[in-house]
Amino acid sequence: MKVLVTGGCGFIGSHVVDAYVDAGYEVMVADKKKVHTFPYKNVGATYFQIDLTDSKKVSELINEIEPDVINHHAANISLSKSIEKPLYDAKNNTTAIINLLESARKFGVQKFIFASSAGALYSKDSKLPFTEKTPTNPISPYGVSKLASEHYIKVYASLYGLKYVILRYSNVYGPRQNSKLKPVVSVFIESLIQDKQPTIHNKGDQTRDFLYVEDIKSANVLALNYNENECFNIASETENSIWETYKIIERILKKNLEPKFREKMVKEQHRSYISNKKAKKKLGWKPRHTLRNGLIKTIEWYEKN
Ligand SMILES: NC(=O)c1ccc[n+]([C@@H]2O[C@H](COP(=O)([O-])OP(=O)(O)OC[C@H]3O[C@@H](n4cnc5c(N)ncnc54)[C@H](O)[C@@H]3O)[C@@H](O)[C@H]2O)c1
Repeated sequence: MKVLVTGGCGFIGSHVVDAYVDAGYEVMVADKKKVHTFPYKNVGATYFQIDLTDSKKVSELINEIEPDVINHHAANISLSKSIEKPLYDAKNNTTAIINLLESARKFGVQKFIFASSAGALYSKDSKLPFTEKTPTNPISPYGVSKLASEHYIKVYASLYGLKYVILRYSNVYGPRQNSKLKPVVSVFIESLIQDKQPTIHNKGDQTRDFLYVEDIKSANVLALNYNENECFNIASETENSIWETYKIIERILKKNLEPKFREKMVKEQHRSYISNKKAKKKLGWKPRHTLRNGLIKTIEWYEKN
C-alpha cells in the first residue's frame, strides 16, 4: 500500500512516517519545509517539497505518485496565528485540503486520514468528557478550518465514495515538538532544563487532555486498516491542570523554580477532557502512556537534544 503523509516533516507527521515505514508500507511525504535538511528524515520514505496551497502542484504530485491513501497532517497549527491571520489559516488548512481532495477524486485515491483537533472543536459549555457526539462550536479560525475540513471530507465521501477516518487529537506532546509555537510541555521542560523561570498563563487551573506522541502513531496505523468511515477522538481521557503538569515535570527534573503567572489575552478553552471510548471499542486503540511516563521519555529526549 502506498501512503502519502502530508506534513511529514512536522512534529506528529514525522512520527507517523516512522510508524508507517516500520509497518512496511511504501511511504511518501509532502511538506513545504526544505525536506533535504529535515533532521528526522526517514531513509525508508520519499520526500517531496511542496506547498499544498498550490492546486496545480498538488495535482501533478498526486498524478505522479498515485497514492492509495492520503494521510493529511499538514496545517497551520497556531491558534493565535489563526486569529491574527485568518486568511493564512484558511489557505493552509482549508484550501490545501480541497486541493488534496480534488486530486484524490481525479486520480483514484481510495482513502483519506485526517488529523483533526478535539481541543479546538467542541462546544466549551458541553458535558465533560467530550465525546464525538458533543456539539461542535469552534472559538478560533483554526477550529473553524478543522471543522470545515472534516465536512469537506464527508462531502467527498458521499459524492465520490472516498473512504475516510478522521482522528481528533487531544493535546499531543513528545520528542520533536516545535517549541517555537510555545506548546506548554516543551516550554516547561526547556525552561526548567535551563534553570529559567517559566511562565504559566492565567492561574494554571485550566486543564488539558495530554497524549504522548507514540500513542498517536498506533492510532494512525490502525486507521490505515479500518474499513468504515468514522471519526474518533484520540485522547488520554484524563484531565490534568497546567499547574499539575508543571509540578510533574519539576519533580522529574528535580528542580524547584517558582513560575511567573501572566494573563493570556487569546481566548482559550478552560477545561479539556476528552472521551476515548469510541476509539477503544471500534478502532481497537488505547493509549499506553500515562502522563508521567510520557513526560519522562520526552524529558530524556530534550536532555539528549
Ligand atoms: N500538536 C497537537 O497537539 C495537535 C492537536 C490536534 C491536532 N493536531 C493536528 O495534527 C497535525 C500536525 O500537527 P503538528 O503538531 O505536528 O504540527 P507541525 O507544525 O509540527 O507540523 C505541520 C507540518 O505541516 C507543514 N505544512 C503546513 N502548511 C503546509 C502547506 N501549505 N503545504 C505543505 N506543508 C505544510 C509544516 O511545514 C509542518 O511540517 C496538524 O494538522 C494539527 O492541526 C495537532
